[in-house]
Amino acid sequence: MASILGLSAYYHDSAAALVRDGDIVAAAQEERFTRIKHDYHFPLHASKYCLKEAGLKIDELDYVAFYDKPLQKFDRLIETYLAFVPRGLRSFMMAMPLWLKTKLHLPREIRKALDGRYTRRIVFTSHHESHAASAFFPSPFDRAAILTIDGVGEWDTATIGIGEGNRIKLLKTLHFPHSLGLLYSAFTYFCGFKVNSGEYKLMGLAPYGQPKYVDVILEKLVDLRPDGSLAMDMSYFSYCEGLHMTNEKFAGLFGGPARRAESPITEREMDLAASIQVVTERAVLAMARHAHELTGCENLCMAGGVALNCVANGKLLRSEVFRDIFVQPAAGDAGGALGAALFVHYQLLGNERKADTGDSCHGSLLGPRFSNEEVRAELEALGAVYEQIDDESELLRIVAAEAADERVIGWFAGRMEFGPRALGNRSIIGDPRSAAMQAQMNLRIKFRESFRPFAPVVLREEVGEYFDHDGESPYMLMVAEVKQALWRQLSDEDRAAMRDPDLRRRVNVPRSTLPAITHVDMSARIQTVDERRHGRFYRLLKEFKRQTGCGVMINTSFNIRGEPIVCTPSDAYRCLQATDMDVLVIEDFVLRKGAQKALSEAQKSKYLASFQLD
Ligand SMILES: [Fe+2]
Repeated sequence: MASILGLSAYYHDSAAALVRDGDIVAAAQEERFTRIKHDYHFPLHASKYCLKEAGLKIDELDYVAFYDKPLQKFDRLIETYLAFVPRGLRSFMMAMPLWLKTKLHLPREIRKALDGRYTRRIVFTSHHESHAASAFFPSPFDRAAILTIDGVGEWDTATIGIGEGNRIKLLKTLHFPHSLGLLYSAFTYFCGFKVNSGEYKLMGLAPYGQPKYVDVILEKLVDLRPDGSLAMDMSYFSYCEGLHMTNEKFAGLFGGPARRAESPITEREMDLAASIQVVTERAVLAMARHAHELTGCENLCMAGGVALNCVANGKLLRSEVFRDIFVQPAAGDAGGALGAALFVHYQLLGNERKADTGDSCHGSLLGPRFSNEEVRAELEALGAVYEQIDDESELLRIVAAEAADERVIGWFAGRMEFGPRALGNRSIIGDPRSAAMQAQMNLRIKFRESFRPFAPVVLREEVGEYFDHDGESPYMLMVAEVKQALWRQLSDEDRAAMRDPDLRRRVNVPRSTLPAITHVDMSARIQTVDERRHGRFYRLLKEFKRQTGCGVMINTSFNIRGEPIVCTPSDAYRCLQATDMDVLVIEDFVLRKGAQKALSEAQKSKYLASFQLD
């Protein structure tokens, strides 16, 4: 049996994962430790954490696995450059230093980062093999089709594969520059959001718009074939040779230049978001149908950045092409670290695999945890004022009552989440019945003015009472409609507000009895919570239900805008001090904002300015 450290690095979202005897012992993104969002450097802190969690020293590792093949990636870079010479010179020259210094010498770099103490083999799996492995091996299926869709790996941008027992096989691939992920990112860029992080905003913007550009996109930009493969007209895009995603010809199709970041969002961006969402859903559905034809499997596993499009996932699930779908919660490149390690364990070493009836991701709660003693020591060092409540039912009673009283609560318990979503261990929570809660949380806590509602957490056994969804969604990767019985009739005043050019006014019109989590199209990005995966968080939700009759709460990530999700008690405490959060709960400790020493405005501003806008 082997201990394997998986790594992903040097693009965005570096991460490390540790698999021992097939069990996922630990996984974490580097950004959580360095506090630099999407940190791409070698995952030094994350690797150290994984080894510590497993109680291993570097020289006790049997394998190190890296999530892509750098030489093939370099090959793509050179070939693309040559194809566009001399236009791509500037972007080529910008990319070169990191390649020459680091990426072309990865074995040396990895050994150096591991203090020169790792002397065994380093395995390089391909980018999409890593995604596919991260999706299938921890899935609840013995046999399943696999779909990986992202921007680009070495050359591949999407693959269809099959997983059976302890093996995966990629059957079909789509090649760069034709890429559903890059097409979506091109629209993300054009609508004024950051590529590789603002895709979520574009998806959240879509329900406000009309999909009026679908025909233009399908006629001019991309030929979407019945098997889900696509061919893009590259004369509209500049990501092969330029520093931007799209060019003037692209802008000409949509009435002028790209939206400038942070400028007002207009109808055009809403319609573009709605249109590219429709195209994405069609492509994903076509790829899934083709995967079904090729494999004959009744279940599907997915990974790659596009698999984070939970609106498309929800539609795919309801299309019933597949009976069940499992999406790797760390579907982006961070999850590649986990996939690479699992690939070595199963495919390379041939170890037997038994699918877990749930899945074997342990709720994606794979990061650091802190004992009460450790929390107390950190709080003492910070000079925090706290109360310790050993009796869990007493603690949950107090927290649920505060939430029901419209207080905003920072909730920190157990192991930090792996992947982009906070799943109840590093979350900010509140009452979804409160119409004011959404604006309050956005403005006073997250320091953003969002047009997106928050995501709900719901008791697993009650999901069908609130949403048109049965089955679980433990990773917040499915979108479903709020039950019609909960919809609210709109007044004339509401209708007028729904046409307001300012989206913040539109999103603040209560659409259901759970206004803070209901989007303008009545959809919600649901997370089901169960005792097995979520423990104390599940019991908190149960207590909230007991007190209020409502089995749903708001769950948003524990961070401010631009900040990675908090990792340590100190990170959480700083967030409490700098924001208007009312209550912070860290394990058994309760801290009230009013009792803490106030930060000066200068200290607050310094903290807020330490994170770049995302
Ligand atoms: Fe990827």
